[in-house]
Amino acid sequence: MKFETFQLERNQSLWENKVDYNLSESGVHPGSLKTLFDTDFIEKIENTELTYGFTEGSPELRQSIASIYPGATPENVQAFNGSAEANMVAIMTLLEKGDELIYMVPNYLQIYGFARGLGVEVNTFQLHESLNWQPDLDELKSLVSKKTKMISVCNPNNPTGSVLPKETVLAIGEIAQSAGVWILVDEVYRGAELNREECTSFWEIGYDKTIVNCGLSKAYGLPGLRLGWSLSSEDHIQQSWATHDYTSIAIGRMSDIIAAYVLHPDNRMKTLNRIRDALAENLGFFQEWVDNFRDHFSFIPPEAGAMAFTGYDWNINSTALVEKVRDEASVMLVAGDWYGMDRYLRFGYGAKRTDLEAALERITPIFKSL
Ligand SMILES: Cc1ncc(COP(=O)(O)O)c(C=O)c1O
Repeated sequence: MKFETFQLERNQSLWENKVDYNLSESGVHPGSLKTLFDTDFIEKIENTELTYGFTEGSPELRQSIASIYPGATPENVQAFNGSAEANMVAIMTLLEKGDELIYMVPNYLQIYGFARGLGVEVNTFQLHESLNWQPDLDELKSLVSKKTKMISVCNPNNPTGSVLPKETVLAIGEIAQSAGVWILVDEVYRGAELNREECTSFWEIGYDKTIVNCGLSKAYGLPGLRLGWSLSSEDHIQQSWATHDYTSIAIGRMSDIIAAYVLHPDNRMKTLNRIRDALAENLGFFQEWVDNFRDHFSFIPPEAGAMAFTGYDWNINSTALVEKVRDEASVMLVAGDWYGMDRYLRFGYGAKRTDLEAALERITPIFKSL
């Protein structure tokens, strides 16, 4: 088993804490325990014994998560260390060498690289810029074959920030169901919609071979908790729990308690609204900056998430451009190359407002000089 380099994560691991301004993040800048929670709750955390807790996630946490999805029960839920682990466990549980996976691109590429590392054959279908970063469903249909075991999508999408409308979610569900294949959906940006309307979850298609993975890192702005989850049939959840025994056993005890609180129906919208406010405020500011270069950038504003994916026409490779910006201005951006799409950049506009302003001011002369 040999894994190809995960370019996006590798570059972030190497540089995100070395630059003055990190605009490579796809979520909103997180708060601290003190700024986000009241003293009673902080005291509860301080008094928690640091046991393993529940390896599948505590009953309170699984109930809070189930309450997000109509008709779901705690038995449909398994908690993981980030949606990254939820994705990894889904692939390890269901796919093996020689199976075929059909994968939406552009995409975060964790599932892509991990599955390929296991010897899975990965074919891709596109979100088209000419369709406002939506798929052509005939293209998807034409790819499904007898060998296909799973279709995997990311909705809302990283890096484009596009959202599949309900009819497309249902249509993809129908394609998978009529072929009897699994659907693995990464919904980690669900809840971070700029129009404040939570998009349709693939859970709503009601097909038992569906796995919805999500987490607190993006829409809830709490990546440091490393808290994710899978939602699926009871049977699949039992199987993925058994795989989880081999990966990290359990989520962190404190993360479990904080997540159960944040996701509780009484509290959840408060967190989502904080993130949506920050996104709305910063996107307008970022749009003004891009407009200064409107002859060079193509930009379809995101519908969700703190990512702005821009094409450009300057004659410079995207990795070279990101390195130039990093070395000359100490600002980190994401290269389209890391998504297999040269001549694109991803700007994380969810940074603290003062940092976003300072970073864009610093990089402006570089872009003017191109
Ligand atoms: C689409 C997508 N899935 C999963 C992850 C990993 O998230 P987590 O922090 O929940 O593991 C990311 C991180 O950027 C992502 O963009």
